[in-house]
Amino acid sequence: MNKALNRFAILVACATFCLIIAGALVTSHDAGLATPDWPLSNGQFFPKMVGNLFWEHGHRMVATTVGLLTIGLLIYIRVKEKRQWVRRLAVFALLAVIAQGLLGGLTVKLMLPLPVSTAHATLAQLFFCTTVSLAVFTSRSWMKARPLPVEGKGILPLRYLCTAALVTIFLQLIIGATLRHSATWDQHLPAELILAHIGGALAVVVALGSATLTVLRRHKGNSFLTRPATLALMLLFVQLFLGVAAYISRLRSPDDPQPLNPMVGITVAHVACGALVFATTIVLTLRVFKVLPAPVHELEPARRQARSLDSIQTPRGMLH
Ligand code: HEM
Ligand code: HEM
Repeated sequence: MNKALNRFAILVACATFCLIIAGALVTSHDAGLATPDWPLSNGQFFPKMVGNLFWEHGHRMVATTVGLLTIGLLIYIRVKEKRQWVRRLAVFALLAVIAQGLLGGLTVKLMLPLPVSTAHATLAQLFFCTTVSLAVFTSRSWMKARPLPVEGKGILPLRYLCTAALVTIFLQLIIGATLRHSATWDQHLPAELILAHIGGALAVVVALGSATLTVLRRHKGNSFLTRPATLALMLLFVQLFLGVAAYISRLRSPDDPQPLNPMVGITVAHVACGALVFATTIVLTLRVFKVLPAPVHELEPARRQARSLDSIQTPRGMLH
């Protein structure tokens, strides 16, 4: 395990989180078209940061920094890391950040069309999760983790529960992004998308609630699993609260003379907390896949037989 590499991967993940906040500030201030130019801003490499250009050009600067950090991380990983799949994931991270930058430029050039802005918001979350995964894979706790006994028969495997939670959250992020980019602060949000997003929130509560509570029940005392589960559950509560607050603040924003700070602050916090819910669920899912073996019926016959012999020799209490 290379401590410095892991710290650098954590730095890139934290910088990406700040970039998501910077991007969300652009949307909430309705500053996406502060300059119709790209890659230059108003024909300049560094324009005067006045008015909405502060948010739009500031976001481009933070994005450039994250792009450079991602190149740095790729080089660091190619030099220090032997696991081929981690090296490949670092290449994927670089490709994702390049695609994200191009989508950002495209959304400006095309004057913020809904599909491109939504794709830009969604890929931002996927890129963030890639950097978080790189931080997980290079960490000491990941290297030290040892497999737990196979889960008992007749109970829903945690691998399934966590994967279902992850997919549900991802769909909810896409609905949230579509909702957010369907109306600027001076327009009303479309009712059918609000309903879809509330339905999505209920689905996330059921999926993530079952995954995290099952982890807390089955693996009490195993902080490798309970820590991300507890954090994800706490963030989910905060996210629900922020969602309701975002809705209330958006309800009255069309009457405001400009995007006002309470609405900007609450909606940006809702986007940021959504990213954190997704990221902690990724950490939980990766850790579950690391320490909990595949359910017996998924293994090929020879390994299945070996596994069932193992479980006969495993003391009963360890099975749950
Ligand atoms: C490279 C990494 C980048 C990341 C991770 C990123 C991330 C984000 C995020 C999270 C948002 C907010 C979405 C929302 O609130 O719903 C956003 C908005 C935006 N970004 Fe980026 N961005 C990146 C690069 C760029 C670049 C290079 C540009 C170049 C112009 C750009 C232009 C924009 C614009 C115009 C918006 C506002 C879109 C709207 O209001 O419809 N982004 N970005
Ligand atoms: C599981 C819970 C939830 C998650 C993960 C979630 C996630 C998100 C995300 C990520 C966005 C912005 C997407 C983007 O542009 O990148 C969003 C937007 C939004 N969400 Fe949620 N959300 C949740 C629950 C709720 C609830 C319960 C409400 C209450 C009605 C709500 C109301 C809104 C509103 C009004 C917006 C648009 C905000 C704006 O226009 O700036 N959300 N949601």
